[in-house]
Amino acid sequence: MEYSISKILDEIEESGIRRLFEIASKEKDIISLGIGEPDFDTPNHIKEYAIEALNKGYTHYTPNIGLKILRDAISEKLKKENNINADPDSNIMITIGGNQAFFLILSTFINPGDEIIIPSPYFVTHAAATKLVGGKVVEVKTSIENEFKIIPDDIKKLITKKTKCIIINTPNNPTGSVYGRKEIEEIFDIANEYKIKIISDEVYEKLIYDDEHISIASLDKNLDFVISVFSFSKSYAMTGWRIGYVVADSNTISKMVKFQMYLAACANSFAQYAATMALKDSRSNQYIEYMRNEYKKRRDYVLKRLNEINGFISYKPKGAFYIFPKIFIDDNIFSERILKEAKVAVVPGSAFGTYGKNHIRISYATSIENLEKAFDRIEKFMKSLDK
Ligand SMILES: Cc1ncc(COP(=O)(O)O)c(C=O)c1O
Repeated sequence: MEYSISKILDEIEESGIRRLFEIASKEKDIISLGIGEPDFDTPNHIKEYAIEALNKGYTHYTPNIGLKILRDAISEKLKKENNINADPDSNIMITIGGNQAFFLILSTFINPGDEIIIPSPYFVTHAAATKLVGGKVVEVKTSIENEFKIIPDDIKKLITKKTKCIIINTPNNPTGSVYGRKEIEEIFDIANEYKIKIISDEVYEKLIYDDEHISIASLDKNLDFVISVFSFSKSYAMTGWRIGYVVADSNTISKMVKFQMYLAACANSFAQYAATMALKDSRSNQYIEYMRNEYKKRRDYVLKRLNEINGFISYKPKGAFYIFPKIFIDDNIFSERILKEAKVAVVPGSAFGTYGKNHIRISYATSIENLEKAFDRIEKFMKSLDK
């Protein structure tokens, strides 16, 4: 098979999310429940650190791998919070958000035709990055009946000679599902047995409401085959700062660093400094706690409203800021109609893969007042469908 990025770019569908927002931008008085980022602002102390960085001269390129002070601070955080031992000089690389990480990581070991198992519904970048490196997306079904978690035997059935890795994402976008210790161990054991890598997307690690976050790399003491992706975007309300990081074996990191040299040189220098200080300053944890409590209240409110309205079946999300109810009509038609008739924007589930069909993604990263207004409209709209 011929590998051509240009051709792949022609073939990759534009994200279903973007199409809907184009329609939304033309309508007035829309309430958006389609947002994929915190509605909270970056805390002031972190903004002040960015100003301090500028005044201190953090206005130049940093090493391709990222600032040493940031990698040191991350290494300590990983030890304390994630039970991962990572050498700051060979196992950690700073990336331009978590998003950039997937293309960089996959480029280090995927060849055209290699297969990557992705639990579906999935975060769109996981599939797009797979295709861009010439890989083949193999979707493994998850469903509301199983709290949107993969069944280990289902993974085994899909493994072939071409399978190179599985991508997991906990807490999950778009479902809000969170894997427990036993489930993490089962996935780890399968990957170990079949000698495939695991890429673990943990960008929502701090946004967990009922359980604890388990990093699958904590089981892989020498970082032999687990590659983890983290980000400052959601935890610290820093989406626009574009700082993420990858934890991996030294060979993977050095190949990624080589690629970054030609791709972007480095992540933003003063944002890296501010991220370092965000990890060190205890005010950050207070802010995270505040945001988490707010999201939890909203999660409970949204779930209650959905359960009261005929036409939705919901799973109680345990993390992130999304809920992914099942609906009984085509999700694309539903999303367009609710946007035009009720002026509420939600994302059709099929934007997140085959098994997202007949679901919608609702984001509760917006105020309770907005949610109240939106659900009053949704309730009325659903009653109009009954007629
Ligand atoms: C599951 C998941 N992973 C990674 C990202 C990337 O975030 P960022 O590039 O802002 O770190 C997102 C953003 O929406 C996400 O939802």
